[in-house]
Amino acid sequence: MLRLVDETTSTNDLMKTWLTQGCEQGVAVLAKRQTQGRGRHGRAWSSEAGLGLYLSVGLRLRAPAVRLPWVALAVAPALLSVLTRCGAKDLGLKWPNDLLGGDRKLGGVLCESVAEAGTGALVVGVGINLRTPAGGWPDALRDHAVALDALGCDAAPDRESLAASLRVAVVEAAGWVEEGDTERIVQAWSPWDRSRGRRVVVEGPPRREGVAAGLSPRGGLWVELDEGTSVEVRAGEVRFASWGSPEPA
Ligand code: BTN
Repeated sequence: MLRLVDETTSTNDLMKTWLTQGCEQGVAVLAKRQTQGRGRHGRAWSSEAGLGLYLSVGLRLRAPAVRLPWVALAVAPALLSVLTRCGAKDLGLKWPNDLLGGDRKLGGVLCESVAEAGTGALVVGVGINLRTPAGGWPDALRDHAVALDALGCDAAPDRESLAASLRVAVVEAAGWVEEGDTERIVQAWSPWDRSRGRRVVVEGPPRREGVAAGLSPRGGLWVELDEGTSVEVRAGEVRFASWGSPEPA
């Protein structure tokens, strides 16, 4: 079920409340705008009305807590499949779940566990840029952000029907995590990998640079460091070296 609200602080926070109050698995909320949208690594997520899609899906997974980080990886390719069906071209992923159009950020996923709502309760928050701002992107985002309307979609996507399809994709992908089918998740994620073979920066400490070498069987990102060793990045932030610093929201 997809619930609609005009405005909220953050759909993730609203969904956390609903899960804590006992709402069932698979309920989602779509907001026209958020006043305190949140991104990964404590960043703000700009959430103006008319420009983006702000969606959160509540899950109650029958899976051990150790498996929950796989949800973030599983949902990313599932979301891109939906966007591809809408006609979007040139989509890809940057580990773990940045949605890219070309080399630019089209959207992102913020997964948050909700311990007070029970074992396996979590919120999957999805933000997607739908339209390029009328006056163009602000300076800080100009070289790094893209919206669906610039990716060759045949028709402007209807926000609600797109959100309904994304909700179904999230629930289905989460099912792979319940089944423990991590190999399938790696196989689904890897063809979208935009960082493989490219120079990346692994934010520290310590900060390191190297060449990305694909998803590991444990869901980390292999990076071949300049000093000749490989690391499996399991947490934190990886960005394209060509993006400069800091990574835009
Ligand atoms: C990222 O930093 O890449 C993740 C961005 C996630 C943004 C979405 S918008 C809907 C949901 N509510 C939030 O406050 N954040 C997520």
